[in-house]
Amino acid sequence: TSPFAPRHLLSIADLTPAELTTLVRNAAAHKKAIKSGSVPKNLLGALAGKTVAMTFSKRSTRTRVNESLYDTSVVISSMVSAIVARVAAHADVANLAKHSSVPVINALSDLYHPLQTIADLLTLHEAFPTTTSSPSTSLGLEGKKIAWVGDANNVLFDLAIGAAKLGVDVAVATPKGYEIPSSMRQIISSAASSTSTPGSLTTTTAPLEAVHNADVLVTDTWISMGQESESAARLAAFENFQITNAMAEQGGAKEGWRFMHCLPRHQEEVADEVFYGPRSLVFQEAENRLWAAVAAIEAFVVNKGRIE
Ligand code: NVA
Ligand code: CP
Repeated sequence: TSPFAPRHLLSIADLTPAELTTLVRNAAAHKKAIKSGSVPKNLLGALAGKTVAMTFSKRSTRTRVNESLYDTSVVISSMVSAIVARVAAHADVANLAKHSSVPVINALSDLYHPLQTIADLLTLHEAFPTTTSSPSTSLGLEGKKIAWVGDANNVLFDLAIGAAKLGVDVAVATPKGYEIPSSMRQIISSAASSTSTPGSLTTTTAPLEAVHNADVLVTDTWISMGQESESAARLAAFENFQITNAMAEQGGAKEGWRFMHCLPRHQEEVADEVFYGPRSLVFQEAENRLWAAVAAIEAFVVNKGRIE
């Protein structure tokens, strides 16, 4: 192990509720400053001359599998200031982190997608501004309800962990056989125990039940990277799970309900009327991936894991 013991971002589970709030607030502040033409000089100065290695292994498993992650991690981390890795098995990014002398940021594994959750919480923070000025220790999202209708996957898992930490309720509807694994349910409930006002998690196989009273409807692809061979079975199993205006109406979503999707999107999981409609936050959410990455690099690379 490295004498410097860098701090890594592998999942939202790695963050305290206060740190998660700060990361989202920092992302919001950088977004505002940079878009209004004011360059955060301290941040840019601290990053000048640094190199970040980005590794994407999802579609190169056969060429990569013979090289040990230990060797890769030791060599790459000797050359760069940080590693941003998108991997298939979460164990791969965890092993990379274990042997790396520099911070590792998970850019998606089969279990987690922390940058997506930071972007999603920023999007919700922007979409549901608090009427009173909420303290800087909060994003003002307590009591909001997310309805996740679709596959229980990596994007949901980190979102559910983050929501639990910030007092946001999550209702998940999946077809039978595609539920949140019990090991992940345990991780989500231990996230809830990290705060005195946790968000709740409920699960069902009925989309209409999940969307009841929801402030935001969320979905993702039914076929994540690596699951291509299950396409036919998944398309059949998720047949009645497409998010439509009728689903929201019949289920009784809140009047001002909004829609989120991490992209890339397929028509089967959400109808055009919702995806391109006035309730959709998807392009703001996609832009927020950039600001999430800026905040994460600032926190983990520049500030060495001190999140303030
Ligand atoms: N659940 C999807 C997210 C893509 C950003 C996947 O893992 O392929
Ligand atoms: N949402 C997301 O992770 O998109 P990419 O696969 O394009 O990075």
